[in-house]
Amino acid sequence: MQLFVDTADLKEIQEAASWGVISGVTTNPTLLAKNGSGDVKSVIREICNLVPDGPVSMEVVSETAEGMIAEGKEFATWAPNVYVKVPFCVEGLKAVKWFHQAGIHTNVTLVFSTNQVLLAANAGATLISSFVGRLDDIGFDGMQIISESVDLMRIHGYDSKILAASIRHPLHVTQAAAAGADISTIPFKVLKQMYDHPLTEKGMAAFKADWDKLNATIAV
Ligand code: E4P
Repeated sequence: MQLFVDTADLKEIQEAASWGVISGVTTNPTLLAKNGSGDVKSVIREICNLVPDGPVSMEVVSETAEGMIAEGKEFATWAPNVYVKVPFCVEGLKAVKWFHQAGIHTNVTLVFSTNQVLLAANAGATLISSFVGRLDDIGFDGMQIISESVDLMRIHGYDSKILAASIRHPLHVTQAAAAGADISTIPFKVLKQMYDHPLTEKGMAAFKADWDKLNATIAV
């Protein structure tokens, strides 16, 4: 499963990218508002430079297919790795179909059911962001949708990739991987929680202390 970072914070993206484990970035209007810069084009281009080989999602805000297409065409000129993020709705599906035929990659977002996944896949979505945490928040099993969607994409041979979004904690990431999600997009805070383990820290301290007792040197 590929790991994306779910943020528009350049410092977080730079740090996550330096670990060598990040394959892409997802942003949305809320995350861009947290970044604070109104020069969204520059922010997205900087993110694309930090993660040059991975998809970087930039979301349209128009409410009509025509408006979404116009915005997405513009985003696609910003960098070759920009994916046009389109909210799930009828107008969005029309726009996704257009982007698919134009060879522009898309990420369909705000998906909360397996039938929405099927509709997005039929429109030709490249990525489909199924929200786990927001479903869990209202008493539904968000991971069940991921699991069913992964199965349906494989059974019917769709090209769309299932992206587990709205990740709240490290267990969500493990569960998404076990369910067969192609990608999980992870807040930076959760990414850090994934590597923290007290036994690893304790073990490293013990190895260091024992090594120091040796007074050995390594020729490099
Ligand atoms: C992903 O692309 C979404 O923008 C994001 O995962 C939403 O997460 P949230 O439910 O924590 O806002």
